[in-house]
Amino acid sequence: MAQREQWGSRTGFVLAAVGSAIGLGNIWRFPYTAAENGGGAFFIPYLFALITAGIPILILEFGIGHKLRGSAPLSLAKINRKYEWLGWWQVLVCFFIAVYYVVIIAWAISFVGFSFTQAWGDAPSDFFFGEFLALSDSPFDLGGFRTGILIPLLLAWGVTFTALYSGVKGGIEKANKILMPVLFIMTVLMAIRGVTLPGAAEGLNYMFQPDFSRILDYKIWTAAYGQIFFSLSIAFAIMIAYSSYLPKKSDIVNNAFMTAFINCGFSLLAAFAVFGVVGHMALKQGAPVAEVAGGGGVGMAFITFPAAISTLGSMAPLFGVLFFLSLTFAGLSSLISINEAAIAAFMDKFSMPRKKAVLIYTAVAGTCSLVFATGAGLYILDIVDHFINSFGIVFSGLLEVILIGWLFNLKTIQDHVNPISELKVGAWWPIMVKIVTPIVLGYMAIMNLVGDIKEPYGGYPADALFWMGWFVMIIVIVGGVLLSTLKWKDEQSVSKEVE
Ligand code: ALA
Repeated sequence: MAQREQWGSRTGFVLAAVGSAIGLGNIWRFPYTAAENGGGAFFIPYLFALITAGIPILILEFGIGHKLRGSAPLSLAKINRKYEWLGWWQVLVCFFIAVYYVVIIAWAISFVGFSFTQAWGDAPSDFFFGEFLALSDSPFDLGGFRTGILIPLLLAWGVTFTALYSGVKGGIEKANKILMPVLFIMTVLMAIRGVTLPGAAEGLNYMFQPDFSRILDYKIWTAAYGQIFFSLSIAFAIMIAYSSYLPKKSDIVNNAFMTAFINCGFSLLAAFAVFGVVGHMALKQGAPVAEVAGGGGVGMAFITFPAAISTLGSMAPLFGVLFFLSLTFAGLSSLISINEAAIAAFMDKFSMPRKKAVLIYTAVAGTCSLVFATGAGLYILDIVDHFINSFGIVFSGLLEVILIGWLFNLKTIQDHVNPISELKVGAWWPIMVKIVTPIVLGYMAIMNLVGDIKEPYGGYPADALFWMGWFVMIIVIVGGVLLSTLKWKDEQSVSKEVE
């Protein structure tokens, strides 16, 4: 067996882990999720989710990857052959995220170009849905490819491919060493300008003013847990793969804390920038912030924000370029990690050389992503994203804490990470992993299931929800089991004792 690849330095690993965590989730998802879920009051469940699930699971995944030195399927197979399918489940979740995530990055790249002239004009909503996406009438009405999306899509895949093809140290680490510092500088600049704009205070008030009347609403809590899982890239195979490339003597616990805090700090910074500018727009239009803030999700980044940028006068092009370039950079570093989680798994299972695995995988994923570059792309993306987040990640996280927390001796991971880490994990850690997180995730899983059965998501036709949502979940589950039944090319790699 060839030697496993390694990071070049601790900073390289932390930057890559932070690069994976900070992504589209921080810049567009966090601000609107917080604002829609009780504003300032959202921070209570958010911090609770971070401490009870985010950090403990990050430590768990770093510990597993480092101790067992394998991608998620290999590490889980080493714990118990019967758990391998969960690793493949997570890899398939990654695959489905990758194929739509890359398209949002492609939109962001296009919008960097549009920013120079504010091509969206006075009606960013019509521009986005009409001129840019040419949104069709239904999820099955593909309406042909959009060249304006295909070209940046190729570019995003090109960057990702180059980083992955060049290896852990020479590609992934290098890419993050460029993308992350530039991203931080751009976001700090935007936050400073954002909060010093006239009207910014109103925007920040909207974001941070607590609405305590909603604190008992379970939806805020599930939104907070969902945000933490997506944002920290946990329960989808990534952090296990990344930590499997750590040298033997590496800190685990402190690295996990750093990754989590840098990620959440960055989310706050992005929120300052976004709501500062949105507050300014409200002032200019003489309307309340809640009214101009508009819908969440895609709308926030590609409709509300362009409209807000247009109110910045001569600074508009610069601010627009900074914002969409930040979205692009944050997205790319996460996309690299999402794909690496899957590539590492195929390399382990089939003893495939990296270059071959990267070529085959990106060819398949790249082809599948094309469907999102059609006129129905946004509908399909919305449905797949909803199912992956509400079920794929929630159930995968739940199964992970049950299998590893309860059916495996968690103490061995604790005994592995403590001697090598600057900070030690104490009695609180198994309580979080074994008790608190399974209770919350179990509750979320049931509530999400009941919610989707009672009220089909987003008002889409039932057949679209079946093929693009439930069927995708079936592929993840059945595919995970099937892949786990295939023989390991190097049988010894699974049974090999690891120190
Ligand atoms: N953690 C990545 C994000 O937040 C997936 O976008």
